[in-house]
Amino acid sequence: MNTALNPKSVRIFDTTLRDGEQSPGASLTSTEKLEIARALARLGVDVIEAGFPAASPDDAAGVRQIAEQVGNSAMGDGEISRRVPIICGLARANKNDVDAAWNAVRYASHPRIHTFIATSPIHMRYKLRMDPEEVVERVRDIVSYARSLCEDIEFSPEDAGRSEPEFLYLVLSEAIKAGATTLNIPDTVGYTTPDEFYKLISGIIANTPGIENAIVSVHCHNDLGLATANTLAGLRAGARQAEVTVNGIGERAGNTSLEEVVMALHTRRAMFGLTTGIDTTQIIRASRLVSTYTGIPVQPNKAVVGANAFAHEAGIHQDGMLKHQETYEIMRPETVGLSRSKLVLGKHSGRHALRVQLEELGIQLTQAELDQAFERYKELADKKKVITEADLQALLGAQTNKGEEYYSLQGLQVSCGTMGMPTATVRLRGPDGELHTHAAVGTGPVHATYCAIDAIVGVPNTLLEFNVHAVTEGIDALGEVTVRLQANDNQLPERASPQNGRTHVRTFGGYGADTDIIVAAAKAYLVALNKLLAVSNVARTKGEVVA
Ligand code: KIV
Ligand code: ZN
Repeated sequence: MNTALNPKSVRIFDTTLRDGEQSPGASLTSTEKLEIARALARLGVDVIEAGFPAASPDDAAGVRQIAEQVGNSAMGDGEISRRVPIICGLARANKNDVDAAWNAVRYASHPRIHTFIATSPIHMRYKLRMDPEEVVERVRDIVSYARSLCEDIEFSPEDAGRSEPEFLYLVLSEAIKAGATTLNIPDTVGYTTPDEFYKLISGIIANTPGIENAIVSVHCHNDLGLATANTLAGLRAGARQAEVTVNGIGERAGNTSLEEVVMALHTRRAMFGLTTGIDTTQIIRASRLVSTYTGIPVQPNKAVVGANAFAHEAGIHQDGMLKHQETYEIMRPETVGLSRSKLVLGKHSGRHALRVQLEELGIQLTQAELDQAFERYKELADKKKVITEADLQALLGAQTNKGEEYYSLQGLQVSCGTMGMPTATVRLRGPDGELHTHAAVGTGPVHATYCAIDAIVGVPNTLLEFNVHAVTEGIDALGEVTVRLQANDNQLPERASPQNGRTHVRTFGGYGADTDIIVAAAKAYLVALNKLLAVSNVARTKGEVVA
């Protein structure tokens, strides 16, 4: 098997921007996708699956932008110099999709086309309505067509976890003959167990003619909570590429999470004997960025990146920790980039100090962005004595998350409590540059604020999720709010899943941070509404809005 130079090194293939973006509600703007791709490059992932270009011209443009801007220089612009990642685009097994993928990724210095077709009896019979022979024929045709365009071809037999092993050996050997260089084995519906998946991968490696010329990859879904365990079992069986997403986001229960696989290999390296090229100290930053932009919060007890992952609350644990850290801590928080409330700046720090600190965090800003960040930093420093790395990231998250700003918050006054009706007065600057002020009552201060904003913006929508949490400890902590909403009229073009063709209504995430959580809530809501307005304006201009 071709194990890419070092037989003990595992390639990390990140599909946050493709499979991850297929999670309900994780709809990202192209700027957000680009920022996430940059964070993935900083992490040191080997392959970025940047999207499914055949989905729409916007998706194709997003993948192309990533190919051009992240797939060429080693992070250019003075950022940490790392290897240039391979930029990959997904394509169903038809020429149209392959052409769309190639036309988007070809601008990268290392482009890859990833094509797939289902091989399980249930998928072939009911979804594809194709005989196994027809599927083999299609694999031959499409892989050789893709290979005529691009040297790096990945092929996936979809639903491999429920496919007949003998049939898989045949399909995979035909894909190799036709030019596939990576063979990815997906447990598409998260059905297998670690023992079964180990056997499946071992069987493929032992029985597929030509497999020694390819890299075997694993791609697991988490429907039974086994995605990480299955991925690790696949790597033990000889796979040398792991397909993962940041925070484990993805369709249904999600995909294997990047941070879990990377930290399992890192923490238990004596047992696995495998390495990755990931800079683990970038993990928390990438996790926060993805959660901020997708509006999908990380559950507090999530392994590695959850808020409680390194909290040792129980007295007995604290006692042990004080005596020797490793009594209850198998990983150091610093290893994943979690600083223990490090003081980074003081109230009197200047613009230069802010720039230096941000550069240390791997964040490069233009002069205009720095000026904006400095304003926000000063506002925060007036309210909060100690400004930590986490505060700076929250501040920056809120700044870069804005996208096109049709409405911006200019003022907010709330009255609430046990006496009287919660009331909010909101002042927004609108697209016309004019100030709009409105007061509304609600069931609580956030509801009243949202009613007042709705009255001004006038976009009927349903709030699907609202989450609030404190960035750091202490009474003066910054509060972070993430929201997710969808338009009520459902007129926006829907996006189809490349696998089951099912469309899901677009939803929009927003993030806001402030020492006042009602202000943070108002900012998050406006970010989501601005994104909705931007997408509906683009769709309207292109005549895509469905009546
Ligand atoms: O889960 C899956 O089968 C996939 C394929 C497209 C690789 O995402
Ligand atoms: Zn998948």
